[in-house]
Amino acid sequence: MAFDAAALFADREAERYALHTRHLNGQMVRVLKTIGFDVRFRAGRGQYLFDHDGNRYLDLLSGWGVFAIGRNHPTLRETLKGVLDSDLPNLVQMDVSILAGALAERLLRHAPYLQKVFFANSGTESVEAALKFARAATARPGVVYCSHAFHGLTYGALSLNGDAMFRRGFEPLLPDCLEVPFNDLEALERALASRDIAAFVVEPIQGKGVNLPDEGYLQGAAELCRKHATLLIADEVQTGLGRSGRFLAVEHWGVEPDLVVLAKSLSGGHVPIGAVLTREWIFDRVFDRMDKAVVHGSTFAKNDLAMAAGLATLEVIEHGRLAERAARLGERLLGAFERMAGQHELIKSVRGKGLLIGIEFGAPQSLKLKASWNAIEAVSSGLFCQLITIPLFKHHNILIQVAGHGIHTIKLLPALIISESDCEWIERAFAAVIADAHRVPGAVWSLGRTLMGEAIKARAAV
Ligand SMILES: Cc1ncc(COP(=O)(O)O)c(C=O)c1O
Repeated sequence: MAFDAAALFADREAERYALHTRHLNGQMVRVLKTIGFDVRFRAGRGQYLFDHDGNRYLDLLSGWGVFAIGRNHPTLRETLKGVLDSDLPNLVQMDVSILAGALAERLLRHAPYLQKVFFANSGTESVEAALKFARAATARPGVVYCSHAFHGLTYGALSLNGDAMFRRGFEPLLPDCLEVPFNDLEALERALASRDIAAFVVEPIQGKGVNLPDEGYLQGAAELCRKHATLLIADEVQTGLGRSGRFLAVEHWGVEPDLVVLAKSLSGGHVPIGAVLTREWIFDRVFDRMDKAVVHGSTFAKNDLAMAAGLATLEVIEHGRLAERAARLGERLLGAFERMAGQHELIKSVRGKGLLIGIEFGAPQSLKLKASWNAIEAVSSGLFCQLITIPLFKHHNILIQVAGHGIHTIKLLPALIISESDCEWIERAFAAVIADAHRVPGAVWSLGRTLMGEAIKARAAV
């Protein structure tokens, strides 16, 4: 008899928070209940989510960026069903996968200066592979990464994490990893000068905080890497596959990295996947003899569902010209937010590329607002942003969050298939909530007092 997951979802739907509190991460349940995001989502279609009562939400998180083509895209759905119905000889291990070959070939068309692909099951696992490849290819120990970087949470990737909150309690991390400020070519040159550095790992646009490279930074970094025989690894896990308005974000600056890391939306979001695109000579140094054919790998990598999902997703992205769409709609939204920034002192800056957009808030000048800002920020740095995200969710059905821990930037990371009318929805909602946040006293700041109370209570309970 078939196991009916949908029936189980319906039967036990009301227990979801209790089940998680009992058996999984109870802190996550506390967060959801505190900020009022516990609306019991029951369906996802395209760029929208539907809660228990059938209300429609516009999802600007897209599962941390995995649903670039939207949830349950019909092409992907048919592809995955087709794989399961075809009795393919999946994961034979002592054979090679046709689907993996075809996906590698299609991916490399987007980076013709690279020749080989290594598949993995996640972003962090792909970063680990890139690190191992760089060390093996250069016979050097060091890795340089940027402040505020995020490359995943396994040990190698965590060793390149630019935020102490993620690292604290998990040390010691990988040795020989050196942090340099993002956008600082002099610091990078000093770090590379030892000639002990295997790789410089960088997100072309940093996801935590949505930090853009200065003009010339990535080109300069590529030149320095070449000069010091260090490999340039572009982590495009979040920025890749059309998100920034180009297939790869490095294309905006004409940079050709030695390794490109992809994951997230490569499988359309429903199957874990990761990939490292690299130069042939690097690959050949890792897999240099027959007895080392499996020196690095992972059991589930190259599984048929992930590979077929990757091919279907590329089809949707290429045919739908989703990179161009992201560029066009991103420009529209950036323009609208810039106009809001001109009118509202709480907005410090607006930045982004394509459909990766950050709105940074900052301390206001006017006295009444400043006192309220200082009070909430004294309780917890970054808490102000919840005064924007919560009303967006509660009153405008927009799901969004901050772009990192302790920072003041809210990040838009929607599906690339959003429409002009979704953009109107976003612009209307943000304009209303941000205007409200400038009224003291007002509903937004009374929510602020409630949140401050919760934060103080939570701290006292620890
Ligand atoms: C730039 C970047 N690299 C790596 C990762 C890690 O990916 P995963 O969560 O699939 O391990 C992320 C995840 O957010 C990311 O944004």
